[in-house]
Amino acid sequence: MITKLVRIDELHMDGPAVEEAGRVLAGGGLVAFPTETVYGLGANGLDEEAAAKIYAAKGRPSDNPLILHITSMEELYPLAEEIPQTAFALAEAFWPGPMTLVFRKTARVPYGVTGGLDTVAVRMPSHPVARAVIRAAGVPIAAPSANASGRPSPTKALHVLEDLDGRVDMVVDGGTVGIGLESTIIDVTGGRPTILRPGYITEEMLASVIGEVALDAAVTGEPGAGVRPRAPGMKYRHYAPRAEMTVFLGSPAQVCAAIEEALQRAAEEGKRAGVLCTEESERFYEAPVKKCAGRRNEPESVARSLYDVLRAFDREQVDCIFSESFEENPLGGAIMNRLLKAAGYRTVTCGGISSSGG
Ligand code: TXA
Ligand code: MG
Repeated sequence: MITKLVRIDELHMDGPAVEEAGRVLAGGGLVAFPTETVYGLGANGLDEEAAAKIYAAKGRPSDNPLILHITSMEELYPLAEEIPQTAFALAEAFWPGPMTLVFRKTARVPYGVTGGLDTVAVRMPSHPVARAVIRAAGVPIAAPSANASGRPSPTKALHVLEDLDGRVDMVVDGGTVGIGLESTIIDVTGGRPTILRPGYITEEMLASVIGEVALDAAVTGEPGAGVRPRAPGMKYRHYAPRAEMTVFLGSPAQVCAAIEEALQRAAEEGKRAGVLCTEESERFYEAPVKKCAGRRNEPESVARSLYDVLRAFDREQVDCIFSESFEENPLGGAIMNRLLKAAGYRTVTCGGISSSGG
């Protein structure tokens, strides 16, 4: 298959490229497009056969359900069996935007899209190109992140092509995305709304609208015996660069000192090491490869560049990556969640005693 690359910018969304993307989707094909969080790999979300192509193109396990993308509340009603009052309040506050809600599904939503679950995840994105493409298709669009399964999510069209060139019908290049981390997922099917995946919409923001929210156990810890994530995708190693990555936990000064030591050891062992640092700390390291994930005092900038940096280490062919950690401030929690998954939960606690690997 030859993948067609088209450029759609925010000023030209009524052009032939949008119509063509809509036609490909309506006809059962695959189109990758930008959203405000990450690039998505879209297919007709009511067509099991089209959805199956997503799993094949990404190499995604079939028990990992897809998110359906819509552009208006009217499109939600045929998909969700029951919409609790909390969901209306959250939708009112954060849609369109980087939030996904999990509902009980109706019979219209095929099991091939929900990984066999009786629930369905739905999101209304705000990115104008995403909205134009979904509207042109005229159906809810199932769209996981447009990376090969296990790889960091794409934040630019180039990342999509790195993973999926020749495996999808079309890639819509709408530039670099604004947020850089996947949406916050909230399950509203049970009693208390529960965060299944942290994101740009933080626990505090949700609580300010609906009061208390719960946090799924798998969000904070390593999934293992006894902790089964309610978002099936959260159980897989994910967002991972090819080299072994270790996250150093501790104060910035302790982390810096410990990474310097690790760099020395790596050099002695003849390993090519990379450091994932920030603009504030870059000058302290003597390393073969250094990549800055934004500025420590601006978590938004870290979120925006994290996946690009993880992919950049692959291009540099490093043997190991030593990463700084980030404060668990509201957005920092989502950043650390992705970073630890990318590292397979391999951490070193600096200035302390414990260390673990996985
Ligand atoms: O920001 C985003 O959410 C991006 C853009 C493209 O919209 N999409 C995205 O999709 O991150 P994906 O497939 O990479 O991640 C979807 C996550 C997975 O962890 C999946 O297991 C979970 O959502 N999920 C989907 N449906 C679910 C359901 N019914 N119940 C629980 N978790 C669900
Ligand atoms: Mg994904």
